[in-house]
Amino acid sequence: MQVIKTVREMQSTSKALRDKGCKIAFVPTMGYLHAGHLSLIDKAKAHGDVVVVSIFVNPTQFGPSEDLEKYPRDMEKDLKACEVEGVDIVFAPPVEEMYPQGYSTYVNEESLGAPLCGKSRPAFFRGVCTVVTKLFNIVHPHVAVFGQKDAQQAAVVKHMVQDLNFEIEILIGATVREADGLAMSSRNSYLKPFQRQDAVRIYQALRKGAAIYEMGIDSTDRILAEITHHISEVRRLRVIYVQAVDMETMKPLRYVEKGRTLIATAVWCDEIRLIDNIIL
Ligand code: PAJ
Repeated sequence: MQVIKTVREMQSTSKALRDKGCKIAFVPTMGYLHAGHLSLIDKAKAHGDVVVVSIFVNPTQFGPSEDLEKYPRDMEKDLKACEVEGVDIVFAPPVEEMYPQGYSTYVNEESLGAPLCGKSRPAFFRGVCTVVTKLFNIVHPHVAVFGQKDAQQAAVVKHMVQDLNFEIEILIGATVREADGLAMSSRNSYLKPFQRQDAVRIYQALRKGAAIYEMGIDSTDRILAEITHHISEVRRLRVIYVQAVDMETMKPLRYVEKGRTLIATAVWCDEIRLIDNIIL
């Protein structure tokens, strides 16, 4: 496995691979890898000849009061996990390599990124679109894999790729969960055991919403009320949003449209922000 730290070397390596006719499959990450990330790597392996994983905690997608400083990092462990998983190249640049002094260009998707997480994290999707654009121009992949866990991010990236004419196929991998249902996330490492116990309620509440839909109720108001109720029963949890939107456009839906209704939620578990979603 090759570990690359500079933009120039990553670009020249990609160019050489493309010139040889290799299909490059790319998984962008912020590291602290878990089984969710590894499942995306497996998907990338199935869709490319060479798998590139980036590990970069992107400062531009964190707000001033957010967790950039304390975001979990363990490069040594991540590199081992990538090696075991059969990754060919890890691109892990230092911050100055991605954002040198005087950096001043940003990419902003102005529609799909506005609701849901865009409301409570105003700089987030601008940072994501900027870094993903840069990574696409550096890694130059044929295919890139994103996770359904971050459903709005996946929709925003897909839309950006279409709007900006990137010749990259975007694939989405299913959400990988802990045995009790909690969606895996690098941020779960912040949870103390008693918080971890309460956090499982988020997915349980989404399942309750799915259950009343399966009983024949297709009003999203009713489904969202059910979910909100189940989350709010836990004192430690505070709902930031629970919404039903079209999974591609992020537009609100009053009634479930089978197979394309994203029920997405963000919740505070004390001071830890967790997100999850299901599709009905
Ligand atoms: P990060 O949170 O590290 O996630 C990297 C990729 O893994 C994303 O596509 C995310 O949706 C996916 N992922 C996270 N948890 C998952 C789970 N439980 N199951 C399946 N996939 C999961 O998302 C980011 O980093 C950043 O915003 C990034 C796209 C790298 C840009 O900085």
